[in-house]
Amino acid sequence: MNIRVSSGTPSSLDAGALVVPVFDDGKLDGATEVADKELSGAIADVLSSGEIKGKTGEVSLIHAKDLKVKRVLIVGLGDRKKFEPQMLAKTAGTAVRYLGKRGLRSIAFALPIEAQHHVREAVSFIVEGAIAGTIDSTTYRSEQDKPILLETLTLVTSAGTHSYEQKALEEGVERGRILGEAVNVARLMALTPANDMTPTHMAARAEELAKEFGLGFDALDEDRMRELGMGSLLGVSRGSDEPAKLIVLTYEGDPGNSEKIALVGKGLTFDSGGISLKPADNMHEMKYDMSGGAGVIAALSAIARLKPKINVIGLVPSSENLPGPRAMKPGDVLRAMNGKTIEVINTDAEGRLILADALCYARKLGATRIIDCATLTGAMVVALGHAASGAISNDDAFVKDFLAVANRSGERYWHLPLYDEYTTAVKSEIADLRNSTGRPAGSLTAAAFLQSFVDKVPWIHLDIAGTAYVDESSSMAKGPTGTPVRALVAYVEELARSRAKGGNGAATPAGTATTAR
Ligand code: BES
Ligand code: MN
Ligand code: ZN
Repeated sequence: MNIRVSSGTPSSLDAGALVVPVFDDGKLDGATEVADKELSGAIADVLSSGEIKGKTGEVSLIHAKDLKVKRVLIVGLGDRKKFEPQMLAKTAGTAVRYLGKRGLRSIAFALPIEAQHHVREAVSFIVEGAIAGTIDSTTYRSEQDKPILLETLTLVTSAGTHSYEQKALEEGVERGRILGEAVNVARLMALTPANDMTPTHMAARAEELAKEFGLGFDALDEDRMRELGMGSLLGVSRGSDEPAKLIVLTYEGDPGNSEKIALVGKGLTFDSGGISLKPADNMHEMKYDMSGGAGVIAALSAIARLKPKINVIGLVPSSENLPGPRAMKPGDVLRAMNGKTIEVINTDAEGRLILADALCYARKLGATRIIDCATLTGAMVVALGHAASGAISNDDAFVKDFLAVANRSGERYWHLPLYDEYTTAVKSEIADLRNSTGRPAGSLTAAAFLQSFVDKVPWIHLDIAGTAYVDESSSMAKGPTGTPVRALVAYVEELARSRAKGGNGAATPAGTATTAR
């Protein structure tokens, strides 16, 4: 996709359509005001007719046969006072899908005046959202949906009343492109059905990306896992003929510095539940159970391109969970890499089992902070629905810094507690831990289970079960959303920035709840 910046107006812009955002207060300013004048008041007419009010997600197409731009698409941005730059990603996605499905290949997008103080961010979000909007989920059909072929995206800074800094615009375009492509890398991996996205395929895709963008790559096979004592990950893999992999991607942005952040993602390429078999309803969606892993791989690919000054490792334990003849059974006891024994109460609580060994391995590789992300519990969907992911941590300062950045990335995270009661709940009568407890606080007992494997390292667990894929969206194709790529990349960038400044916030080694490391 060709991305350029212009200060043209509808009478001079070379594009199939110009997208102009409007707020729901009916006030026209900046590029919208200019467009309205050139359209002889057509935008004001649409708003005053009540056809649309400017609410978030509303669209209305105006044909302008006398102008160079033949179409103007008005898109609602909602309440002006609640505007935040990340909203522009969804707005751009909605516009690209609306126009792209109608065959337009060249789209211009006017920056709202509200974005002028955050040009870099605004541009990054627009480009990211536009790129995410182009992906289609019908690649396995003989006759695919009409593809969205966006060839040119023009960012219009033509408000006329204010100037934009060229460098900020360019940086925003570059970052948005990298992020949008990474989001799509994760989504395309997740969209690929489990027969074409086995642990072996996942590792191969990670290796491809590592070669393309210059990351270190390793994939542990089951023999190496056995040598390392990863009985928990191997326990899950037993029921399947597809061998498990532990994928490791390495980015060295600050060689010689011993600080290293580990991103760990659940890469369960298909979760049938195992012997504790899931009901058939919606079981097919469990091909998405590798979304956390795909997110980590994609985030590392973006980090390799953005080059923040910080060391990052990505770890993806990848396996199937099937009820084969050698499958682990309820009642079995597994031994993880750190020697802890786990009573398997429910073979469907497999995510925490594969993550357990990956978290141990992250520490072995020298991680000084860990963020894991996983479609871990159905209880998360009950708690927060599809509106936000849960964030659970052993370190208050760390999670506070993370939330501040992640909630401005276009994704949403909500902090949930890690009380001692949850730790008590995951104790077993006959082993150190049990992998499943009763129904209460299912997402938090899962987090308490994981905590046993991070030891004292500052750690955040992200449960993305409700946000990794969606049924309905105007800004993106149905299916995988790319969560948590945006938040992981934004946090890593911010961590590198604040450390370079030697400032506080994300710069301080996390450590309020935990002291020793
Ligand atoms: N992958 C599922 C969680 C999940 C459920 C993600 C629905 C997305 C949508 C996970 O492996 C699982 O099965 N969890 C169990 C845990 C229980 C057995 C303790 C669950 O949530 O039911
Ligand atoms: Mn499961
Ligand atoms: Zn699962």
